[in-house]
Amino acid sequence: SLPDIEPSRLEVVNTKQPKQIPAADSLVFGHTFTDHMLTIPWSQTSGWGSPKIEPYGPLSLQPSATVFHYAQELFEGLKAYRQPGGKVTLFRPDMNMKRMNTSAARVALPAFNGDAVIELLKRLVQTDKHWIPDIPGYSLYIRPTLIGTQAALGVHPPTEALLFVICSPVGPYYPEGFKPIALYGTTEYSRAAPGGIGSFKLGANYAPGVVAQREAAKKGYAQNLWLHGPEHHVTEVGTMNTFIVLKHADGVTELVTPPLDGMILPGITRDSTLALARDHASGKAVLEGLPEPSKFVVNERPITMKEIKQAAQDGSLVEFFGTGTAAVISPVNKIGYLGEDIHIPTGPGGMGPVSRPIWKQLVGIQVGDIEHPWSVVV
Ligand code: COI
Repeated sequence: SLPDIEPSRLEVVNTKQPKQIPAADSLVFGHTFTDHMLTIPWSQTSGWGSPKIEPYGPLSLQPSATVFHYAQELFEGLKAYRQPGGKVTLFRPDMNMKRMNTSAARVALPAFNGDAVIELLKRLVQTDKHWIPDIPGYSLYIRPTLIGTQAALGVHPPTEALLFVICSPVGPYYPEGFKPIALYGTTEYSRAAPGGIGSFKLGANYAPGVVAQREAAKKGYAQNLWLHGPEHHVTEVGTMNTFIVLKHADGVTELVTPPLDGMILPGITRDSTLALARDHASGKAVLEGLPEPSKFVVNERPITMKEIKQAAQDGSLVEFFGTGTAAVISPVNKIGYLGEDIHIPTGPGGMGPVSRPIWKQLVGIQVGDIEHPWSVVV
């Protein structure tokens, strides 16, 4: 069989012109890149080639490369954190590698050994770790990407591909703190459909979202809320997964997120939020601040705008928030839906009674204040 990705074949070419690292408070999400990138070529005839860490710079591709024509592209997002004492860690990189291979299979791009790429990511982050701002809330956003590079216009699996990884120092997604955002319930477009690509992290899912986001912004809302089907099922918030908290008449608090039905992106912050909440609900690991386990349930289930609207009216809607790698948790205070605004309660400082303890735990694990196997040392 053809060679898989082999970290021992890594070639390192250090930059001769290190860039000036900009002041942390001037960083805009994803605008600044570190000195180096990782590239790994693939071809159908020789498999994965030698990985290379080299100066960050332009790629040279034929204009006929399939990525430009048929969106043979997928990406990932994960963060490296600077821990107290200088240690650097990645958060659940195995999940990104698994999802990346799942995305690759969906668009006929080549599979690869995820553990090998984690080893190489570690080398890349070690090389550029001085770029991680030593300020709470800051991290290095890592963007692994896989593209089809064959110079041919036939619609086929590409015979050549390139995996590359770039890194960007980032601050808190919302510099003003956890300012709750207003959403526009989009009924003009849908993000995903059964049998489609909504559950894969493909670039093709994101370009059509820009127009929906822009139209939401024009109407005065920060992001759009993706709805699905005639009953307007709640699916995602902009580029994030969605969570809803309901307090039922029997005193039970329910944390709800739409199920992975093929139209929902299997977010790693989504999965982590569910895992922490379920550990609490089952009594396995107490999360201080959450309702006691006998009064707390966690459900992946469909939820419609009718239910949200009803819950807002009868006072049982406690929280609505988005989860993602970039913003972690993003509280929502309003949804514009079919011409009216649904108001959603928010807690002190923006976060509500369920999202706050989960956020605290999640970020505690990410930055190393709480020891946890999800944190992987570089
Ligand atoms: C997220 O972390 O929420 C993302 O999906 C990343 C975004 C920049 C596409």
